[in-house]
Amino acid sequence: MQIQNLAQYSEHYHQALESNNAYWSQVASELTWFAPWTTVESGDFNDLKIRWFDGGKTNIAYNCLDRHLPAKKDKKALIYISNDPKAPLVELSFEELTYKVSQMAHTLSELGVQKGDRVCLYMGMVPELLYSVLACARLGAIHSVVFGGFSALSLAGRIQDCGAKFLITNDGSYRGDKIIPLKNIADDALKDCPSIEKVLVHRRTEQKIEMKAGRDLWLHEVLSHKSELFPAQPMESEDPLFILYTSGSTGSPKGLMHTTGGYMVYSYHTFKNIFQMQDSDIYWCSADIGWITGHTYLTYGPLLNGSTTVMFEGVPTWPDAGRFWQEIDRVGVTHFYTAPTAIRALEACDLSFVEKQNLKSLKVLGSVGEPINEEAWSWYHKHVGKERCPIVDTWWQTETGGIMISAMAGVTPIKPTFATLPFPGVLPILVDAEGKEITSAAAEGNLCLSRSWPGIARTVWGDHERYRKTYFSTYPGRYFTGDGARRDEQGNYRITGRVDDVINVSGHRIGTAEVENAINEHISIVESAVVGFPHSIKGQGLFAFAIATKEASKDQETLQKDVNAHITKVIGALAKLDRLVVVSGLPKTRSGKIMRRILRKVAEGDVSNLGDTSTLLNPEVVDELVSKATTK
Ligand code: WT7
Repeated sequence: MQIQNLAQYSEHYHQALESNNAYWSQVASELTWFAPWTTVESGDFNDLKIRWFDGGKTNIAYNCLDRHLPAKKDKKALIYISNDPKAPLVELSFEELTYKVSQMAHTLSELGVQKGDRVCLYMGMVPELLYSVLACARLGAIHSVVFGGFSALSLAGRIQDCGAKFLITNDGSYRGDKIIPLKNIADDALKDCPSIEKVLVHRRTEQKIEMKAGRDLWLHEVLSHKSELFPAQPMESEDPLFILYTSGSTGSPKGLMHTTGGYMVYSYHTFKNIFQMQDSDIYWCSADIGWITGHTYLTYGPLLNGSTTVMFEGVPTWPDAGRFWQEIDRVGVTHFYTAPTAIRALEACDLSFVEKQNLKSLKVLGSVGEPINEEAWSWYHKHVGKERCPIVDTWWQTETGGIMISAMAGVTPIKPTFATLPFPGVLPILVDAEGKEITSAAAEGNLCLSRSWPGIARTVWGDHERYRKTYFSTYPGRYFTGDGARRDEQGNYRITGRVDDVINVSGHRIGTAEVENAINEHISIVESAVVGFPHSIKGQGLFAFAIATKEASKDQETLQKDVNAHITKVIGALAKLDRLVVVSGLPKTRSGKIMRRILRKVAEGDVSNLGDTSTLLNPEVVDELVSKATTK
């Protein structure tokens, strides 16, 4: 069902509101099911037994690939851009991609991977990563992709948590002028991962690595020679499809579990309507497959719709800041989807990089991952979109599976820096601190969703209680997003950012507690508190206030470097601090809780109005914080 104008959007929205089951049933019936569902939706935000299309059997990889073969087997499914700008493009038709995925499925199956097994993928952006994701789905294994920027300890934690039996990795991966030694990092991680039986290594960088006999296998040596297609396994609609880890305000990262049928229907329908692709269009999502955007809108969404998807191995600034724009021209990209942080980084470079290219092929631009500021929006609109491409600012989360609030390109109105209107079936509400719904049209509050949609994550892997507590306990009966939002008179939403202890650094979600734990492990640190502060490129940066031991280096720069090396080891380079300030105490309430509100203000440099500090246990530290944070 393709929504083509504003009136149709309203129609769809109301239809979904009034007869949700009929609406989603109609969408689902556009896809192939091996057995029909008996119930469209069951469970709710009170019982948390959410199920969609129960009784139905399908296979998402079949719907991404085989389903298209009769009509478009020769159409390009994948265009691959290597890190090396001189390397030719790799192009695969739907038929070729189907065979590649099938071969990988045969290979995994011959090595003993079975339905329900967890397979961890720790890889660079190589086509084999995409084949592996779809091969898992084809045979019914549950994939869990771990972004290649995470450390050995982070990888180990995720493998242990989901009990993965298989790991697929690369010898190394290229990222600009760097090589990430993925296999060495994986070897470190696997010292502590008894569940792993086999490691499959895809050769990419050809660097020297160790292969552990009996455990490690080269993919090129064990690749299956079977020529027939691996049969796509009929999966129950609620069979798990993947687990993806993401950080929150407390504890270790959570493994959000998404299931087959609902996720498939939601990614299919949102992609179709938000991006509005024509058959000959070429879509490029610059996200890494290690994040939810790379799952839903690089892999599943486009392929479910039979669209051509582009995959890029490199980084936007290498060999220079013109890389994105050159590739858009080389490939003829019509739809480009990226993050505000990338836009800001490129905006900070010479304008000639973007002006050198003609970018005539572009029709639609997308933004995702963090609030887009006015300046970045205008630059993207003017210099990339040449003021003729709508920008869809898409708000969603790992937990939501797909886009929840966004304009539909060329269909619904654009309002700069606003994600605009909810997708059909999505019921956003704003609540105040007490959890009372704010019903006035124009309002600001905490963003909740008051009914289930097909793409919602069903649980936190192995810990359903944590799922309940994290998302449904703040405002019982509602899903709390952790974001704040503003609504205008017309019902457009502008997401203002996280209201919990999560910091959005370059579009990556970082939990303060996780970073604090890593800092506190450092031998020179006694205690710490981390808050976000505005950062011109990253959106938010990480600011740590720390109490150091007597023995710690007195030189803050050295100390920050040491602490960052430790954070890189524990979490990954993406959680490195932008600033560390050593203080003699942290502002605490009488019950011992750190007053983050004060720390945030100090980190932001907004110290004129710190509010009431008299209730602090140690009000005297505030002056010290202010003077230390404001002198570099
Ligand atoms: C958080 C989710 C889902 C895609 C990638 C990030 C922020 C995401 C927007 C947007 C303002 C946004 C929110 C959200 N966010 N998109 N268009 N405007 N904020 O997924 O890692 O699960 O993070 O990213 O704060 O809660 P994620």
